[in-house]
Amino acid sequence: MTDRLTGIKACVFDAYGTLFDFNAAVARQRDAIGPQADRLSEMWRHKQISYTWLRTLAGTYAPFWQVTGEALDHCLEACGVTVPGIRDKLMAAYLELDPFPEVRGTLEALRAGRMKTAILSNGDPQMLSAVVRNAAFTSLFDALYSVDAVKTFKTDPRVYQLAVDGLGIAPHEICFLSSNGWDAHAAAHFGFQVCWINRAAAPRERLPGQLARELTSLQPLPSLVLT
Ligand code: LAC
Repeated sequence: MTDRLTGIKACVFDAYGTLFDFNAAVARQRDAIGPQADRLSEMWRHKQISYTWLRTLAGTYAPFWQVTGEALDHCLEACGVTVPGIRDKLMAAYLELDPFPEVRGTLEALRAGRMKTAILSNGDPQMLSAVVRNAAFTSLFDALYSVDAVKTFKTDPRVYQLAVDGLGIAPHEICFLSSNGWDAHAAAHFGFQVCWINRAAAPRERLPGQLARELTSLQPLPSLVLT
C-alpha cells in the first residue's frame, strides 16, 4: 500500500530541472559546441543559480532571463566557446526545453483526480509562459507563479508565500516538488509537504527543512496525493 501524504489540496512544481530538462538547451547544440558541451551545461546551471543567490543577498534583483544570459556569457568565455550565434541559440532553446518523460502523464493524472496544479519558479513570467506553451502544457496548470512578483529569488520565504497567497490554502496543504535539493529543503522549512525529485541520485543537502519524500521521478506523485 502506498504511504500517502495527507491533506494535499495542490501540487506546486519547480520548473527547471523538475519539469523541464535544462540540459536540453546545450544538448541540441552539442555538435556545434564540441567537447566542452557537458562542462558548459553544468557550469551554466551552477552559475545561473549562484547569481540568483548573490543578487538576492546584495539586493540587486534582475529578471531570470537577464541572469541566465549573464551566466551564459561568463560560462561561454570560461569554456572558450566562441561559435558564432551560439548565445542566441542557447537562450532561445531555454524557452523550449524538453519536459522530462513522465511529466505529461503525471500532470494529466493529477488533473483527472481534480488536484490543483501550479508552477512556482525563479523564471520570469514570459519565460514560464513560453516554456509551458511550447510543451503544450498550458491547460495542465491552474497558475504559474514567478518570483518576479516579489523581485527576489528562491530561497527567500516571500517566494514560497506566493503560492500560499495565490492558491488561498495553508502551506501544509501544498505538496511542493523540486529536483533542486536546496529548493526542496527551503520549501519544507517554509511549511510545504515536499517531495525531493532526486533525478541525479545526489546526496542529501545538509540544510534546514524536513523532506516528506525522496523520489527519483514524478511518476509516483498521483498515488501519493490523490484520495
Ligand atoms: C526554478 C529553478 C530553481 O525553476 O529551477 O525556480
